[in-house]
Amino acid sequence: MEKLTIKDIAREAGVSITTVSRVLNNKEDGMTQKTREKVLKVMEELNYQPNKLARGLVTKRSNMLGLIVPNITNPYFPELCRGAEDEANNRQYSLIICNSDDQSGKEENYIRLLKEQQVDGILLSSKDRLSKTSKNQLQNGKIPYVLFDRGEDGTDYSGVFLDNEKGGYLAGKHLTDLGHFQIACMTGPREIQNSKQRLSGFQRALKEATVDLPASSILVGDFQMDTAYRVAKKFLRDNTVTAIFASNDLMACGIYQAAHEMGIQIPDQLSIVGFDDIPLVTALIPKLTTVRQNTYEMGRKAIDLLINKIEGEISEGVIFEPTLIIRESTKNYNEV
Ligand code: RIB
Repeated sequence: MEKLTIKDIAREAGVSITTVSRVLNNKEDGMTQKTREKVLKVMEELNYQPNKLARGLVTKRSNMLGLIVPNITNPYFPELCRGAEDEANNRQYSLIICNSDDQSGKEENYIRLLKEQQVDGILLSSKDRLSKTSKNQLQNGKIPYVLFDRGEDGTDYSGVFLDNEKGGYLAGKHLTDLGHFQIACMTGPREIQNSKQRLSGFQRALKEATVDLPASSILVGDFQMDTAYRVAKKFLRDNTVTAIFASNDLMACGIYQAAHEMGIQIPDQLSIVGFDDIPLVTALIPKLTTVRQNTYEMGRKAIDLLINKIEGEISEGVIFEPTLIIRESTKNYNEV
């Protein structure tokens, strides 16, 4: 019978070779007790006798992780990085945070750089869908990775996403429940999946309430405040609506600015709903009603998935539920 190797143990236990090495070398920081016991049990059942040489073949691990976000100036992402870094540090990993500026080229360069730094895994919020190059770099480079927030929730990788369609629906239902029927929606960039999903959920709620949303009331934004300000100012000058849903909080801030400059009172003349619930919005007057993402927890969970993947544990992707946080920026239409 062929001599048992560390590879046989890993296969039998359903873990990575690294995990078995770590058990052999007592480097089990951050490893779950369940995993450790599973490996030891297989070793015992197969009467495995560690090869002295094999003990030294501990696969090189840097205990560093890479995190790439598309836009570090948007307060949503630092909140997400906070959760990710706290979980990484709790599990004895360091985190290298990179900003791709919504550019596939920068994203590809950072993936290359992180590979050179021999990170053990990469957490990635892509501009939207992973570029072919990025996907190849990750899959060919055999680097464990997890997508979060943006990208496909396909089957070839696990990820952490929000149910964006439901988030848009919650915003739309809130406004129609308040009796509004002259409503506009400001979307994020057209090509970004979560922006499209929010619009489609919003349209579903308005359709249920038989409220029309003409194409001219679907305003295209870019998730940024200054564009939202310019688009809202032009729209509000030429149109009468009593409510606007902004697909992220930064754009809601831009709409606030335009309304204020035009002497439009929020919520007495115009109700506003945002999306994200970034910490900043509680400083807005009136406080913003918004669709909340548990962003900190999403970051923490994404890192947890990535480390489990690195350590050979199979982890399913997670879809987080949005919640509507009603504050002061929305009002019943009949009271307007
Ligand atoms: O605010 C920025 C948006 O982009 C957030 O809603 C988040 O989902 C990110 O994708």
